[in-house]
Amino acid sequence: MNMEIIHVSAECYPMAKVGGLADVVGSLPKYQQRLGNIAKVVVPMYRTKFLYDSQWDVVHKGAFAMGRMNFDFTIIKEKDNKLGYDLYCVDINGLLDREKVYGYGDDAERFCAFQIAVLEWMSRWTDLPDVIHVHDHQAALIPFMMQRCFAYERLKYIPTILTIHNAQYQGWMDWGKAPYLPAWDSWKWGLLDWNNVLNPLACGIKCADKVTTVSPGYMLELFDNSNGLENLFKTEYAKCSGIINGIDYEVWNPKTDTYIIDNFSVTDAEEGKALNKKKLCDDFGLDKKLPLIVFIGRLVNEKAADMLPGAIYNALTEHEQQVSFLVLGNGEPVVEQALTAIQGSFAGYYNTQLTYNEKLSHQMYAGADFLLMPSRVEPCGLNQLYALRYGTVPMVRSTGGLKDTVIDFEDKNGYGICFNNASYEDIALSIKRAILLYQNKKKFKEIRKLMMQLNNSWETSAQQYLDLYTSLQ
Ligand code: GLC
Repeated sequence: MNMEIIHVSAECYPMAKVGGLADVVGSLPKYQQRLGNIAKVVVPMYRTKFLYDSQWDVVHKGAFAMGRMNFDFTIIKEKDNKLGYDLYCVDINGLLDREKVYGYGDDAERFCAFQIAVLEWMSRWTDLPDVIHVHDHQAALIPFMMQRCFAYERLKYIPTILTIHNAQYQGWMDWGKAPYLPAWDSWKWGLLDWNNVLNPLACGIKCADKVTTVSPGYMLELFDNSNGLENLFKTEYAKCSGIINGIDYEVWNPKTDTYIIDNFSVTDAEEGKALNKKKLCDDFGLDKKLPLIVFIGRLVNEKAADMLPGAIYNALTEHEQQVSFLVLGNGEPVVEQALTAIQGSFAGYYNTQLTYNEKLSHQMYAGADFLLMPSRVEPCGLNQLYALRYGTVPMVRSTGGLKDTVIDFEDKNGYGICFNNASYEDIALSIKRAILLYQNKKKFKEIRKLMMQLNNSWETSAQQYLDLYTSLQ
């Protein structure tokens, strides 16, 4: 059955990216289109490079009230179908058109307004879509509003799916903000509430027809550990499931990647990776003969980034001149400071780039030997999948999606390094194993080949989403 699917999200690569949400929303629709469907994506119009580099058509203009505020909005559509599906942006003057995606004092207002604008527009369509697929708390009030706000009566019976990319963030608002929502059946206030606050993610879990998260392993964890939502997941378990993320095999392809200096595939990976490693080590003053372990990601507690300075310090002290590290990412200031503080002690063996840099991340996947991900929470994790595709051994804490996608190299058909705790001991042991593996050239080559031949593309998972939509028609 061919369907029209509308994705609503705060991020979509390359229009706006903060984390993995953008990569998923940016690529899944393309694969859904290939399977014969029409997939469209709607995101806020931020002032990003992609916005200025692209051509846009105005497709709708409207207005709405949010509490006592009145807003005009415009829906624009990317003209050239650059992404392989239709991308729409919601422009709300003064509210969404900013440089960053999140981090403003009025984020609650911004994303509420975004969701209302989407529904104002959609409720005027002649032909309604077959399914609305919303992502994370910034879009999670949509199922409630479709079902309970009088103005969106026309949308009431369209099936809705909520995908949770990270249950740590729930979009909590105090009840004083409830009047932002267009008039709704006030008997149903309980749907918005969780523990006496207005909780958009909880509301989405209650109202969406299906709830998915981005790996089966993380789904299981949510029943016991979901930042206060445990009982809700237990109540709603029947509509919950995990679908593992895929990655965009066109964007993440070492054979065609224009960000890296030497393209390679499984057949010439040894030479290809060596050239990329040389360039990376030259750029960052590192010794290319040593195993290179990298970290790429936001420097936040969930990623256990606070462990990095100590873990790197210990490793470089214990294995003097035997290993090197490169860290890319930004986040919590204390972590950034600690990563900078150890720099002086290990020049030539350790370097950092405390920023977000998409191009450099590609160069690191291509040039590194190992990628460290000690995450405390990892709903799916995409970086380990990028690493596998680029022949870089993932060193992961076995949690959530990391557990579902990485098998330890000492187990049957394994290729990664797995450990149980985000502790200094476990990380130290994994670094030791990485150094030993690197010295065993034959095994290292074998593993590299095996990793690069795995298939973590979207085909299978895109089909699983379609099956889920079909079950709701
Ligand atoms: C979030 C999660 C990450 C997941 C990504 C895409 O960023 O933290 O684990 O891979 O969303 O679903």
